[in-house]
Amino acid sequence: MVILISGRGSNMQAMVEAGLPVAAVISNRADAAGLNFAASRGIATAVVEHSSYATREAFDAALAQAIDAFRPALVALAGFMRILTAGFVQSYEGRLLNIHPSLLPAFPGLDTHARALAAGVKLHGATVHFVTPELDHGPIVMQAAVPVLPGDDEAKLAARVLAQEHRIYPTAARWFLEGKLVIESGVVRVKGDHPQQLCAP
Ligand code: GRF
Repeated sequence: MVILISGRGSNMQAMVEAGLPVAAVISNRADAAGLNFAASRGIATAVVEHSSYATREAFDAALAQAIDAFRPALVALAGFMRILTAGFVQSYEGRLLNIHPSLLPAFPGLDTHARALAAGVKLHGATVHFVTPELDHGPIVMQAAVPVLPGDDEAKLAARVLAQEHRIYPTAARWFLEGKLVIESGVVRVKGDHPQQLCAP
C-alpha cells in the first residue's frame, strides 16, 4: 500500500506500527513531519509539491505517477490536505481510502472538532471511507464514536478522536488488503464477523 500525507502522519505511523505492508509514503509538502518517521523505518518516501504545479490536473498527474511506481493494491489518504480531481479519484476508485475526523455524514470538510463543539453534539468520532469524487462522502468502512464531554475544547476532543483513528484506520486497511471488503449499493460490509464500529469510553 501507499500512504499519502501532508503533515504529522500519526495515522500513517499507526498503520506502519500495525505491521501493514507500506511500500511508500508520499507527501505534497517537503516539510511533512511524517516523512522522517517513514524514512527512519526504511520506507520509501517521495514528495510531490503541489506548489510546483500550475493546475490541480497537473499535480494529480504527477502524484499518480509517483504512486503508480509502487503498483499499490491500496492508496490510503492519511491527513492528506489536498482536494483531488474527479479524474484522479475515478482512476483509483475502489482502492482509495480516507480517514475523516467526524462521524460522517456529519461535518464533512474542515474544522470538524470546532464544528462538533459548536453544534453541541454529544457523540463525535472518525470515519474510514472509500473516496469518491464528492468530498467526504464515499462508502463507510468503519466508524469510531467518542463522547463529547463537559469542558472539552477543540484540542481535547481532537486528541480523543485521534486515539480512535489510530485504531480504526489500520483495521480497515487490513480488511481491504485481505480482500474482506464488499461494497453493495454504496454500503460496505466485511466478510466474516467483524464489527465495523467502535465506541470508546
Ligand atoms: C487526522 O485527524 C485525520 O483524520 C485528518 O487529518 C488528521 C491527520 O493527522 N484527515 P495525522 O497526520 O495522521 O497525524
